[in-house]
Amino acid sequence: MQRTLIIGASGQIGKQVTQLMLDGGHFATALVRDKSKLSDVQGNTLSIVEADLTEDFGHAFEGCTEVIFVAGSGGDTGADKTLLIDLWAACRSADYAKKHAIQHFIMVSSIGADAPSNGPNEMQPYLVAKHMADEHLIRSGLHYTILRPGSLTNDDAKGSFSDERPKDKSEAVITRADVAQALVYLAGDNRQDSMIKELFNGGKTLTEVLR
Ligand SMILES: NC(=O)c1ccc[n+]([C@@H]2O[C@H](COP(=O)([O-])OP(=O)(O)OC[C@H]3O[C@@H](n4cnc5c(N)ncnc54)[C@H](OP(=O)(O)O)[C@@H]3O)[C@@H](O)[C@H]2O)c1
Repeated sequence: MQRTLIIGASGQIGKQVTQLMLDGGHFATALVRDKSKLSDVQGNTLSIVEADLTEDFGHAFEGCTEVIFVAGSGGDTGADKTLLIDLWAACRSADYAKKHAIQHFIMVSSIGADAPSNGPNEMQPYLVAKHMADEHLIRSGLHYTILRPGSLTNDDAKGSFSDERPKDKSEAVITRADVAQALVYLAGDNRQDSMIKELFNGGKTLTEVLR
C-alpha cells in the first residue's frame, strides 16, 4: 500500500497538499508539531504523527512509501532555525527515508538554491541551506524530485505553469495552491528518473512541465 509522509503538513502549502491527497483517496501521514493545527483537514485516509523536527522524528516514516518535505523555518525566524529546519531537518529526512526504503522523496526547495551566491545578501543563508539539503538528497541514492518554486503567493490557483525562469524577477512567482497541485501530481506519478525543476505560474499544463 502506498502511503505518503507529508513533513510540514500544517504549513500553508502543507495543509493544501494534505487535503488534496486525501480528496484523491491517497493514504497520507501528516507530520506536525501540533495536531490541532490540522483540525480543518479532513479525510479518513489520514494519520497524524506529532513530532518536532529538531528532535527524533524517524518513527513518522514507519509504513510510508513516499515523502513530501514541505517544512520550512519561515521568513520571521533567524539563521539558527534556518540551519535546524531548512538544512538539518531536510538532511535528516533524507537519511530516515533511506533507512525506511522510501521509493520517492519530493523536496520543496527554492528558486535560487542552485546558485546561492547569486541571490540577494539577506537570502543567502536560506539559499545555502536549501542548496546543501538538495545536494544531500541528490547524493543519498534515493529516487528524488526537487521542486524549486519562485516566490510564493496566496492567490487562488491559476492551474497554469512554467519551468522557465521569467526574465522579469517580479514574474518569478507561483501560488501556494498551484505548488500543492504540482506536489499531488508528482506523488501520483510513477516516473522512475529523478529530476530538479524550477516552477512558476505560466502558460503550460502540469503534464507539459513535469513529464
Ligand atoms: N516563501 C517563499 O516565497 C518560498 C519560495 C520558494 C520555496 N519556499 C519553500 O516552500 C516551503 C513551504 O512554504 P510555506 O509558505 O507553505 O511554509 P510555512 O507555511 O511556513 O510552513 C512551514 C511548515 O514547517 C513546519 N515546521 C517548522 N518548524 C518545525 C519544527 N521544528 N517541527 C515540525 N514542523 C516544523 C511548520 O509547522 P508549524 O505549523 O507548527 O509552525 C509548518 O507546517 C518551505 O520549504 C519554503 O522554504 C518558500
